[in-house]
This record gives sequence, structure tokens and C-alpha cells, in this order.
Amino acid sequence: MAKNILVTGGAGYIGSHTVLQLLLGGFKAVVIDNLDNSSDIAIKRVAELAGEFGKNLSFHQIDLRDKASLEKLFSSTNFDAVIHFAGLKAVGESVQKPLLYYNNNIIGTINLLEVMASYGCKKLVFSSSATVYGWPKEVPCTEEFPLSATNPYGRTKLFIEEICRDIYRSDSEWSIILLRYFNPVGAHPSGYIGEDPRGIPNNLMPFVQQVAVGRRPALTVFGSDYSTKDGTGVRDYIHVVDLSDGHIAALQKLFESKIGCEVYNLGTGKGTSVLEMVAAFEKASGQKIPLVMAARRPGDVETLYALTDKAENELKWKAKYGIDEMCRDQWSWASKNPYGYGSADSTN
Ligand code: UD1
Repeated sequence: MAKNILVTGGAGYIGSHTVLQLLLGGFKAVVIDNLDNSSDIAIKRVAELAGEFGKNLSFHQIDLRDKASLEKLFSSTNFDAVIHFAGLKAVGESVQKPLLYYNNNIIGTINLLEVMASYGCKKLVFSSSATVYGWPKEVPCTEEFPLSATNPYGRTKLFIEEICRDIYRSDSEWSIILLRYFNPVGAHPSGYIGEDPRGIPNNLMPFVQQVAVGRRPALTVFGSDYSTKDGTGVRDYIHVVDLSDGHIAALQKLFESKIGCEVYNLGTGKGTSVLEMVAAFEKASGQKIPLVMAARRPGDVETLYALTDKAENELKWKAKYGIDEMCRDQWSWASKNPYGYGSADSTN
């Protein structure tokens, strides 16, 4: 029998790509999403891309803070595991509106965990972030590095990790995998699903793609005086399809062994600078990206990349794609969908 997976935030960027990989991997997926920062068009496209497996996907517009709706769902459906993506993720906004972030991310998660526990569903994969390494003393980051957060968004990730560790300590029936994502970019190679942030993008590649399609005049490069190869910030960019496959590997692990509460980095282990990423995108797209060099962005770290040995050894997962493929697929999505899932007059 196909395993049935609840995916919170499954209409979002990483969620939608993971749902597709789940369906193609023979799982059934039930997506819940409040559609605050996502579109149900993504769900429809995932179902189409999944072909005959599309019938194994269902969607409910539910906010995790609406516990009654969550309970109703669990009372009518048996879930073998949950992948929990749902959450707000804009660092700057979290500084302005900390309570919104604590309310949405923490309360939503506590509701989910309570309902899971009361229905005996105790297998969880959670979207954590490399942001929990703060400004690391050295790179690459291993899972044992000390944890810290520099903003409310990062603190929600850190607190939820701690909540998960406490839950497992209190009840060893739980099996939890915390995945610390580095910098997910790119899109499904079909160019049919991809990232579509509301408003001005905070992250590098969504901004670059909006410059490429003429929605923004230039990319502002935050800092060119770092002690890096070309002075710009270095990150571990990972293709979103590789990242999604990491979730399937994590699920397999939950089903195959008694894992406790474990954490894994999902990255490529390679550091790429802002200027290298822009150059790769220009090559893939044939578009010139005008640059405006500016001051460092407050809170940014200089260099962050992962040691990926733990995931390779224990999850038998390794990223396959490099930055050329990431940029190729990002451009395929951008050029086919210059306004994401919306249209020119519905998006800014
Ligand atoms: C950011 C968040 C991190 C979060 C992650 C989610 C900050 C400080 N960090 O990570 O907490 O988990 O997104 O995806 O916001 N850059 C530019 N111009 C831009 C945008 C970015 O030069 O318009 C540079 C940044 O300075 C950085 C690199 O591009 O060197 C990557 O930035 P970004 O995509 O925002 O990711 P992170 O800062 O790594």
C-alpha cells in the first residue's frame, strides 16, 4: 500500500517540488496550505506533471493555526508521516513583525505536533535552515556546530528544532528528521513550477530572475568587501529538485529505521559567490543582469556552506546538480512564467 504523507506548505516553492517527487516516488500526498505566500496553481501543475500519479494528490486550504480543521483532517485520514514546510520566511519582515512570525511558525507547529500526537502519527520531517548556524566560526558547517539565531525568523527555526528534540526525549515513539537547507534555487526542469515570492524578492535568485525578465532594473549586490574570492558573499546553492529528493531520502529513513531525532544538512558542499552566480545565470539565460554595488545587508554572513557527509552516509543522498543546471532551470521557469503563477497586472 502506498504510504500517505501530509505535506504542510505543499503549495510553496520547496513544498510543491517535493510533492511532485513524492508522487513520482509512489507516495500519496495530502497538501495543506493557507496560500498566504503560495498559489493553488502550483498544486494543479504538480498534478499534471505527475501524470498518472496526479490522482494521488489532494489539497485542502488550511491554516495550521486553525486546530479544529487540522483535527478534522486527521480524524478522516490516516497519515504515515508528515513533511512540515509551512511557515513564514522573510528575515526583514520577521524583525518588523516578530509576533506574526512566532504566532504563525511556532503556534502552527505546536498545533500540528499536538494533533499528530493525539492521532498517533509520530513521524516528521521538518524544514529547518542553515540560518541556525548564525555566523559560523569556520566552514564547512557540520551538524554539530553551535546553534544561534540573529533574527526572529531564524529563532522560530531554532525553537522548533528544540521543541522536536524535547518531544523525542519525552516520547521515544517519535521519529523526527530536521533538514537544514542551505540556499535552494532553480526550478523543476520542465519550467512549469518554480519560486514565486510575493512582493519584492528578498533572496538572490528570485531577484535576479525578475531583473532578467524586465520586472526590475538591476540587482543590488549587498557587499563587495567581504574576505571572499571576489568580495561578495558566498553561499551553498542547491537545486530545488535535489533538495526535494533529500526529503524523499529522509522519509525512507523514517520508514526503514528507528532514528530518534536527527538533523541533516542539505547542501552541495560547494561555496559560490554572488558574482559567480550572476555570471552563471547570464550564461544560462543570455540576459545581461545590470548590477548596483551596495553596502552589506545587515545580518548577512560572509561565507556559508555545508559539510554534506552525514546526509550522504546515512540518507544515501547527494546533490546531483551544479550551478549551471540551477541557472538553466531557473531561467526556463522565469522565461515561461515571467510573472510567476500570476499575471502582469496582479503582481508588482
Ligand atoms: C536568507 C536569509 C536566511 C534564510 C534564507 C531563506 C538573510 C540575512 N538570510 O539567506 O535566514 O534562511 O534566506 O532562503 O536574509 N544578495 C544580494 N542581493 C540581493 C539578494 C541577496 O547581493 O538582492 C546576496 C546576499 O547578500 C547573500 C547572497 O546574495 O550574499 C544570498 O542571499 P539570499 O538569497 O538572501 O540568501 P541568504 O542570505 O543566504
